[in-house]
Amino acid sequence: MDTLTGKIALVTGGNSGIGYATAKELKRQGAQVIITGRRKTAVDQAAAELGVTGIVADQGQLAAVEKLAAAVQELYQTIDILFINAGILEGASIEQATEDVFDRVMNVNFKGAYFTLSRFIPLLNDGGSVVFLSSNTASMDGANSSIYSSSKAALNAVMRIAAVELASRQIRVNSVSPGPTQTEILTKAGYSSEQLKQLDQWMLDRIPLKQIGKAEDVGKMVAYFSSDAARFITGAELIMDGGMSLK
Ligand SMILES: NC(=O)c1ccc[n+]([C@@H]2O[C@H](COP(=O)([O-])OP(=O)(O)OC[C@H]3O[C@@H](n4cnc5c(N)ncnc54)[C@H](OP(=O)(O)O)[C@@H]3O)[C@@H](O)[C@H]2O)c1
Repeated sequence: MDTLTGKIALVTGGNSGIGYATAKELKRQGAQVIITGRRKTAVDQAAAELGVTGIVADQGQLAAVEKLAAAVQELYQTIDILFINAGILEGASIEQATEDVFDRVMNVNFKGAYFTLSRFIPLLNDGGSVVFLSSNTASMDGANSSIYSSSKAALNAVMRIAAVELASRQIRVNSVSPGPTQTEILTKAGYSSEQLKQLDQWMLDRIPLKQIGKAEDVGKMVAYFSSDAARFITGAELIMDGGMSLK
């Protein structure tokens, strides 16, 4: 399939997990792709493996987001596909939450995602596509997930308002909300392999389809939203969680 030929795509957080798989799928479908991430070695390695452009940029810092927009503009002038994916996971009960955890998660997942959209609007071609990577937790009520879940719920609110603001330019804005998906996010959050095994089982018990999601499946969904096949879809949240959030 070659449905994205001629399109230029930016994927934030493309050096691992869902971003990596999506960059691969977008490229497979013909797009030219730029990925970002914080760790230079990981960004360089992923960019080389995927055959895409890699730029180190911290989504948690507005100055870095603006520098990224300037670098992309210089390299490619405009983009057609913006996948705002970079995010981190940290949990805490509301009672034990610290300002540090709150700021870290909100700075990357919400503020950084918000300003990535804001600063890339001038670079987006009319008819372009924006996809936010949200989470099924945005509409769930799990203990210890208040900060992370709020960051994703906030993204969904921005997504719908952006869909209204950008519709006159035929720019579509949607979000994809996966459930538990096999990536490095939990290892980066500090879980040991034994804890990960227990967590996998805990999640499988709660997922009607009895599977943990694959980053590649999310990549295909993001590519779909970014293609002409989705030209009448904007302001939508697509939950892909094996039924986990069903009541
Ligand atoms: N895996 C799941 O179960 C799941 C479920 C629902 C939603 N999500 C969401 O999916 C998105 C991708 O996560 P993932 O599961 O694929 O995890 P991952 O493998 O850890 O990938 C996260 C990516 O984001 C990048 N990143 C993190 N903080 C960044 C920052 N401040 N600036 C730039 N890049 C940054 C990481 O690069 P560096 O490591 O170099 O910073 C990495 O490329 C996140 O928004 C996450 O909340 C994941």
